[in-house]
Amino acid sequence: MADKDGNQLAKDYGLNQPAVSQSFYVKGMDHVDWGMKDRLSRIFRPESGKTVMLAFDHGYIMGATAGLERLDLAIEPLAPYADALMATRGALRSCIQPIHNKPVILRASAGSTVLNDDMSSEVVGVDIDDAVRINASCLAIQVFIGANGECSSLQNLVRTIDAGARLGIPTLGVTAVGKEMERTHRYFMLASRVLAELGAHIVKTYYCEDFEKVVAACPVPIVVAGGKKIPEFDALTLTYNAIQAGAAGVDMGRNVFQSESPIGMLKAINAVVHSGFTPKQAFDLFETEKNTLL
Ligand code: 5RP
Repeated sequence: MADKDGNQLAKDYGLNQPAVSQSFYVKGMDHVDWGMKDRLSRIFRPESGKTVMLAFDHGYIMGATAGLERLDLAIEPLAPYADALMATRGALRSCIQPIHNKPVILRASAGSTVLNDDMSSEVVGVDIDDAVRINASCLAIQVFIGANGECSSLQNLVRTIDAGARLGIPTLGVTAVGKEMERTHRYFMLASRVLAELGAHIVKTYYCEDFEKVVAACPVPIVVAGGKKIPEFDALTLTYNAIQAGAAGVDMGRNVFQSESPIGMLKAINAVVHSGFTPKQAFDLFETEKNTLL
């Protein structure tokens, strides 16, 4: 080496200290690769182990959804307050600046719209190479357990898990609830467990009664969808109850971007998820933020 003369002698080998044994804080992810852990640690904050994902992928089945008519205007101001952004590649490329440095959960299933009574027929709608170009931190696939498209949607899931695993990209399995599907803990427990057993690294599902059983029976982190817009206090209560039951966060859309104050709502949800605020405390924060931002 050019500078070998004058180099300090290496001597601090910590001979009396055993090698540090490290376990990874994201549920069920101790044995995945380093790159995948790195991506998961961008999604789930290391200090709380939880995440607030902002979902705005609704257009892939609903077209211009209320609150998302102009993605550039609606989402840009919200991005700084979310831990992760869940979106389609089209929305990202056309409307969202690549400057926020937020992990992307890339919607990777496609193939149906709300105009179809049976929405359970989807395909994998994104090539893994394009997911890499987007710099996706996670791929999201919708699965329709108990519906006509059950088998094909499970194929979409496992193909995506395999493609992502080759590159260290985790997959989020979304448990879809069609018109025919029940919203009981027995349904969500079965659906979540199936997705996790097939290799999903994160499961997105809906809050329901006995939710702690759904969480307990699922060996990977569960994030909760918000569903249709409900009053802000109720959405914060849902978030609180889900976190108390063991959820690792939320993946919320309409209850944020259709709120009177989307930023206020994101701040309040963050307070519940990461700081343990009660629904009342979080709602007070929402009201304060709403009035400040008016
Ligand atoms: C649809 C989705 C959406 O991202 C999801 O429904 C989250 O949004 P919302 O909180 O509005 O339900 O995964 O399949």
